[in-house]
Amino acid sequence: MFKIIVLISGSGSNLEAIMQACEARAIDGNVVGVISNNADAFGLERAKKFNIPSKVINHNDYDSRESFDAALVSSINRFEPNLIVLAGFMRILSPVMTSAFQGMMINIHPSLLPKYPGLNTHGQVIANKDTQHGVTVHSVSEELDAGPIVAQARISVNVDQKLDDLIERIHKAEHLLFPKVIGMIASGEINLKKTGLDQEVIYKNYEI
Ligand code: GRF
Repeated sequence: MFKIIVLISGSGSNLEAIMQACEARAIDGNVVGVISNNADAFGLERAKKFNIPSKVINHNDYDSRESFDAALVSSINRFEPNLIVLAGFMRILSPVMTSAFQGMMINIHPSLLPKYPGLNTHGQVIANKDTQHGVTVHSVSEELDAGPIVAQARISVNVDQKLDDLIERIHKAEHLLFPKVIGMIASGEINLKKTGLDQEVIYKNYEI
């Protein structure tokens, strides 16, 4: 069985889309565990609804980024996962994490990377009057939001686009793209060890 661990910090709507896709067998694999750095993350409720074991590892309980990451690594390793998915996990990772799971960890970022790494991507899109926005799934490397791109989905930005609506549309794009990419990794159609080398990036245009 292809085993997936999902790391979250908040709402967990992407986590839910992934668990649903597993249940529907659109992903030939299972979420075997959810880890949150935030005890109040709503995603923990979502995990419970799907009977997925979850664990809180609070970064405030550790005195360095590295010791927190070491706790994450040992917790994750206990599940012997095939894939680690960062789905709204709001911590910057140190090499302790990135080197432990090189080629087996992906993140979703709400922009068309390399444009707008970091926070407030949607606000920047509106401020800059961009006509396109989107989401990127990338392999996680040491540099924040900069690992090899696996897939991107694009949406068009409406005239007079309101921020809330744009965020909602981006979430919908994420819920389509992320499970799809995870399904392709589980089935072997995407090989994360090859991203950035000879593997083609997947591009989607969503009318949302
Ligand atoms: C998503 O927009 C994702 O791109 C970003 O954090 C958000 C998480 O949303 N990294 P959710 O917790 O999955 O609802």
